[in-house]
Amino acid sequence: MPPSLIKRLEKFDDLPPMPNTMHLVLQEMESITSNSKSLEKIIMQDPVLAAKILKIANSPFYGAAGQVNSISHAITILGFDEVKNLIIGLSLIQAFGDDSNFNGVTTKGLWLHSIGVATASMLIAKRAGNGFNPDECFTMGLLHDIGRFILFKAFREDVEKIMKLQEEDRCPLSVAEEKHGLSHAEIGAYLAQKWKLSEKMMSVVRYHHRPKSAGEDEPYCAVIYLADQLCHKLSIGWANKWLPKGVMLPKSLSLKKDDVHEVVGEIKRKKDELSDSWASAMGG
Ligand SMILES: [Fe+2]
Ligand SMILES: [Fe+2]
Repeated sequence: MPPSLIKRLEKFDDLPPMPNTMHLVLQEMESITSNSKSLEKIIMQDPVLAAKILKIANSPFYGAAGQVNSISHAITILGFDEVKNLIIGLSLIQAFGDDSNFNGVTTKGLWLHSIGVATASMLIAKRAGNGFNPDECFTMGLLHDIGRFILFKAFREDVEKIMKLQEEDRCPLSVAEEKHGLSHAEIGAYLAQKWKLSEKMMSVVRYHHRPKSAGEDEPYCAVIYLADQLCHKLSIGWANKWLPKGVMLPKSLSLKKDDVHEVVGEIKRKKDELSDSWASAMGG
């Protein structure tokens, strides 16, 4: 990252700290003794989060509307991994979640995009096998664009120029950012470092638009890269106005075109569920 950008980021004193609940869940994910009881304890420390988890468990989608009154019941209904991911997602929304709107790009749109990429990454990981941990891929998908929230908050004048460049060159926003010399991937990697996220997580944040540069973390970056392209194509949440024609299928994933079609079908089937449960959790 250019030193001038580091200086600008250091000056920006509004960088959010890592949400405490997210920190606790990431620790849990690494612990072998992780169980429903420990997860329940984390949720109980945060009443707002607890209320949101109950709201989701009571949504019609899960078929137990109005019957879930305890966190332990919610964990049974939603599933252990699902709840872990919800906690990470919801605590990130709390950290970044003011409802800003910048030239048509809203915080909510960016979140729905992240949640879509998380889901698509999990589905791709399941299909690719290769020793991927689908749950970990979900978390990576949630985090991949965290730099965008900082970019939109802290560099508004630059974003205006980037948006203009995007229109002039009819290119994706990430390409316009690179041309302007300020990329959400670099900003996100800076935040990931501040938050002391794992090396692998940091690689994904930095290289999800160019997985080949990621060295040994290339396969994970490739999962998120493919998931990101699919969500833009399917317009899940915020999507680029100008997109390349096809979808680049990274060789490192050893997936066939048919596999990608299957994943697209699954994402389409999950699309409504995604926006329903998360939109209500976001308060929208
Ligand atoms: Fe991105
Ligand atoms: Fe993205």
